[in-house]
Amino acid sequence: MTLEGQVVLITGASSGIGRATAEALARQGARVGVNFHKNQKGAKEVVETIRRAGSEAHAIRADVTRHDDVHAMVEAVRRHWGRIDVLVNNAGDLLARRTLADMTEEYWDQIMALNLKSIFVCVQAVWEEMAARKSGCIINVSSIAGRNGGGPGAAAYAAAKGGMLTYTKALAKELAPHGIRVNGVAPGVIMTPYHERYSSPDLLQKFVASIPIGRAGTAEEVAEVIVFLASPAARYITGETVEVNGGMLMD
Ligand code: NAI
Repeated sequence: MTLEGQVVLITGASSGIGRATAEALARQGARVGVNFHKNQKGAKEVVETIRRAGSEAHAIRADVTRHDDVHAMVEAVRRHWGRIDVLVNNAGDLLARRTLADMTEEYWDQIMALNLKSIFVCVQAVWEEMAARKSGCIINVSSIAGRNGGGPGAAAYAAAKGGMLTYTKALAKELAPHGIRVNGVAPGVIMTPYHERYSSPDLLQKFVASIPIGRAGTAEEVAEVIVFLASPAARYITGETVEVNGGMLMD
């Protein structure tokens, strides 16, 4: 197991990519802080799955857009296990499909808070303790939208995810001297509750028609890349965001 005894904290881990990542990291021996916001039932299921498989996990509620919530979450993980080795910033959402015609200032601010500000808030809460140990790993879940402008009505979300791509590089430079690697994954179309909420069957069909591999991805296929980035095999990689999109975008 490549992550035996490591302590990981995953935001938005009660469903989709976060959930698959929590379970995949636990299979590699990690002890997992399972952050959730509203879906306590999902978080409990993830914790039970991990414990049944023989590793340790705790569910921790926090809204990642709120500084006090995030600091309380990080303290809770440290109370359980004393440190955080790996932070996966996965929580994020489109909230609704909105074009300029129906964009509001409130919606714009919510999107930026959830998909961009949350990264800064979470990283600021964990980095000093990682730096004190000269060891840490941060992985940001961005999106293909941050590279190609996103699907219909996803402009604000795409801008926030694009900001995350840039912020990943900036953090990688700032934190490398402290022994902390910062990387990301940029998923393409992945079948999770996200698309159940925001993409009609017609729209999904259009997306899939533009994917060379010929199908949408699974949460597990993203999780496996996150496991690699968190593992010692990726020790010389920082500032990189890996595309996991079936070939939907290549450059
Ligand atoms: P999901 O809806 O299953 O997961 C999103 C998670 O974020 C949920 O667990 C939700 O509770 C959590 N969350 C939302 N607001 C929160 C808050 N304020 N505080 C804490 N947690 C909060 O969907 P999925 O697809 O697993 O999304 C995970 C990440 O992947 C997101 O950042 C999303 O933007 C990104 N992504 C997803 C793609 C897809 O095709 N499904 C494509 C590209 C990126």
